[in-house]
Amino acid sequence: MRLVGRGWGEPPDRDGAKRVLRRAVELGVTFLDTADAYGPETNERLIREALHPYPSGLVIATKGGYLREGPRRLIPNGRPDHLRRACEGSLRRLGLDSLPLYQLHTFDPAVPIEETTGALAELRAEGKIRHVGVCNVGLHTLERVRRIVPLASVQNRYNLVERSADGVLAACERAGMVFIPWFPLAKGALAGGGRRLAQVARARRATPAQVVLAWLLARSPVTLPIPGTTSLVHLEENLAAARLELSPDELAALEGYRLPTYEARRFAKSAARSGRRLLRRARA
Ligand SMILES: NC(=O)c1ccc[n+]([C@@H]2O[C@H](COP(=O)([O-])OP(=O)(O)OC[C@H]3O[C@@H](n4cnc5c(N)ncnc54)[C@H](OP(=O)(O)O)[C@@H]3O)[C@@H](O)[C@H]2O)c1
Repeated sequence: MRLVGRGWGEPPDRDGAKRVLRRAVELGVTFLDTADAYGPETNERLIREALHPYPSGLVIATKGGYLREGPRRLIPNGRPDHLRRACEGSLRRLGLDSLPLYQLHTFDPAVPIEETTGALAELRAEGKIRHVGVCNVGLHTLERVRRIVPLASVQNRYNLVERSADGVLAACERAGMVFIPWFPLAKGALAGGGRRLAQVARARRATPAQVVLAWLLARSPVTLPIPGTTSLVHLEENLAAARLELSPDELAALEGYRLPTYEARRFAKSAARSGRRLLRRARA
């Protein structure tokens, strides 16, 4: 959950962040997504402070594979010794003996995929990880990884207006893996809505954010959206989307949906930032 601003430092309202976590569980949330890079480490500590001892059935999914050196400075590290230290750090901070789902946050161009993935397979064999997932992956890499370790999930950037991971989603369906779309609300840009989105929302007495989340749930039986929020109001609003079933006509009306220009600009800036990050990484 996006509880630390821009993924760096302490949340602006620490008690408020813990209230959001507790309320989420009270309302029936059974899956929390975090990472050692959020803070770094702050988010995992918050989860433990707010929720430990954990209710049965709560799945805490964390990630490793980055070193966070600043608000906008994430350095991939896929070396086996780093992943072992990162996994053990997450276990300690979360107060768990085994991580229910450990996701490789990114691939490190300096380390062969087989080496990185082999380290995850070892941690799984030792029981430190129950299930392995990967993030930000294409089809070819996905297949290489699956030859080395069974995967439970894939987490890629995906939402109503950004569907480049459609092929990966289909592969998840075929293989029975969970597909976790991150950026489901385009960081709130989609919650503003455009004309078509607002029309569908109004007709269902729902908000655009709820329609966008319901669209993700309708997209495939394997999607597990993880909207990030620091707000109790948004939390309740987002959870209510699980009860909103869109009709075939409503789904058709949302096909080819584009963001209104002002939101599209905001969205494009964020996409360009992550593009530049990937480029810097590729050049490193
Ligand atoms: N695997 C990866 O590489 C990766 C990368 C980034 C994120 N993630 C994960 O994906 C999760 C979601 O991604 P994200 O946080 O980047 O994007 P997001 O969920 O699309 O957007 C979160 C933003 O939307 C706002 N928001 C949430 N619900 C809203 C609502 N009902 N109405 C209006 N605004 C709303 C939030 O503000 P408020 O706080 O005000 O609600 C927050 O600023 C993160 O929490 C993280 O766990 C994974």
